Amino acid sequence: MAELANILTEVKNGVLYLTLNREEKLNALNFQTLEELKMVFEEIIDSREIKAVIITGAGEKAFVAGADISEIAELNEVNARKFAENGQEIFAMIENCHKPVIAVTNGFALGGGCELAMACHMRIASANAKFGQPEVNLGIIPGYGGTQRLTILIGKGKANELMMTGDMIGAEEAKSLGLVNYVLPTKEEAIAKAEEVIGKIMSKAPLAIGMIVDCVNAVFLPEDGYQTEANCFARCVKSGDYKEGTSAFLEKRKPVFKGE
Ligand code: COA
Repeated sequence: MAELANILTEVKNGVLYLTLNREEKLNALNFQTLEELKMVFEEIIDSREIKAVIITGAGEKAFVAGADISEIAELNEVNARKFAENGQEIFAMIENCHKPVIAVTNGFALGGGCELAMACHMRIASANAKFGQPEVNLGIIPGYGGTQRLTILIGKGKANELMMTGDMIGAEEAKSLGLVNYVLPTKEEAIAKAEEVIGKIMSKAPLAIGMIVDCVNAVFLPEDGYQTEANCFARCVKSGDYKEGTSAFLEKRKPVFKGE
């Protein structure tokens, strides 16, 4: 696998360990990382050696703390739609991958990080994991499929609450909502649990596993929903609230929203 700037990869016993590796920025997804994620998944899909994938974040503090706010602060309505569609396309590659993909969510899984975890086939959390879609604090909405996948996974009421308040929830609450399958005390134990689940899956018929992926995804084909999300994301980026929200984060102050 090619050497990458922001992603570490290692293949052991047919499992690709993919680590988002921008620890100093809490593994925030910048454009380059997203591009690298796409390249890695293209290789995973074609590879004979890789049978399963475990995605995690470098360090103990974060899985991924969202899209890189310093980059999204510069979006306009036109490139915002492209930004959302590009992320949606890459996350759909993950969701549709015929090899099992498990997110081991260690620490913060916020915004694009929660969306990345939700695009995986399952999520296994360490006890310090925190999930949320805090985009509303920035004057925007989730744009990488979060409005759709969060609603599918936890239902409308809770999804509305999390997206409208921007609140974070802990690992146990995420488990009770069906967002994660297991919670383990540490990242290492969460990885070991993911290995156990993957070990079982790898002993089954690979073609059948791929067909399960297709059939489960076919239950939910809200293609219009994703398009609506990209359009609404772009509409938010036209607003003064979005400029205020992103500037306030970067200037480390509280935003003052005006609804315009
Ligand atoms: N984009 C860009 N940089 C980010 C980031 C993001 N999504 N999340 C964290 N960082 C950076 C911080 O700016 C900081 O960088 P600095 O050391 O150069 O100032 C570094 O990562 C550490 O984060 P910090 O905020 O100091 O850690 P904390 O423990 O005080 O708070 C969070 C952790 C996750 C609560 C906080 O970083 C946060 O709210 N992040 C943004 C989450 C978000 O809104 N995600 C959705 C984006 S669409």
